[in-house]
Amino acid sequence: MSEDVLLKVKGLEKKYGDIEALKGIDLEVKKGEVVVVLGPSGCGKSTFLRCINGLEEISKGEIHLEGYGLLGKEIPFEKVRGIVGMVFQSYELFPHLNVINNILLGPTKAQNRKKEEAEKQADELLNRVGLFNRKFSYPRELSGGQKQRIAIVRALCMNPEIMLFDEVTAALDPEMVREVLMVLLELAKNGMTMIVVTHELEFAKHVADKIVFMEEGKLVEVTTPKEFFNNPKTERAKSFLASFDLYK
Ligand SMILES: Nc1ncnc2c1ncn2[C@@H]1O[C@H](COP(=O)(O)OP(=O)(O)O)[C@@H](O)[C@H]1O
Ligand SMILES: [Mg+2]
Repeated sequence: MSEDVLLKVKGLEKKYGDIEALKGIDLEVKKGEVVVVLGPSGCGKSTFLRCINGLEEISKGEIHLEGYGLLGKEIPFEKVRGIVGMVFQSYELFPHLNVINNILLGPTKAQNRKKEEAEKQADELLNRVGLFNRKFSYPRELSGGQKQRIAIVRALCMNPEIMLFDEVTAALDPEMVREVLMVLLELAKNGMTMIVVTHELEFAKHVADKIVFMEEGKLVEVTTPKEFFNNPKTERAKSFLASFDLYK
């Protein structure tokens, strides 16, 4: 494995009973790379991220994280969340905990870090996403966009090597999409390694180093944004892109 490869997925398959959700995925992600995953609903995008995050037991293949080893073998599942951060479409903040206690749960309980040290980092991260003044708010007092930014801070506070984002703006009102995408953009600029599942094509074009197009559990195109948006190779990718061009 070349030095700068952080994540290497080899022959990954995932079955749910008879459903083959992933049918042999190979992908390398380099340190600092931003990979955007596109594809129609049901093609396996979430399953793919969930496997990388250790939330799904894989049926076949390997997931290797440089410096740590194989997921589920050298990396126990209780450790993986500290290495691979993930944010979902629904924010999943604990409603009974305020913002700071939501954020500190992982670092103090799962990583046994000192509260003062973790809180200092949490404060810095809250500042970075413009929500330090919401440190003691409860989730119900926050907008969707704010909750999503807190969910991102919560994942970042575990110091992950790589961040996975699964349609993090899909449930947001349009005016809140931007504030969350800005946070992702800033992370990308600062060198965070990320895999982003999104339907925000303009954002994908702008932020991606690599575009991965999925269809029926397979990666059918792995290419540059320029190539994918100007010259998609497969019919499926062409019709996928055309489905966004309603008013053209
Ligand atoms: N927990 C599950 N049990 C059974 N089938 C599932 C489960 N999760 C996903 N699937 C199936 O796996 C396929 C891929 O789903 P998913 O990864 O959610 O796709 P996407 O995120 O691209 O919309 C779909 O056919 C879906 O119905
Ligand atoms: Mg999904």
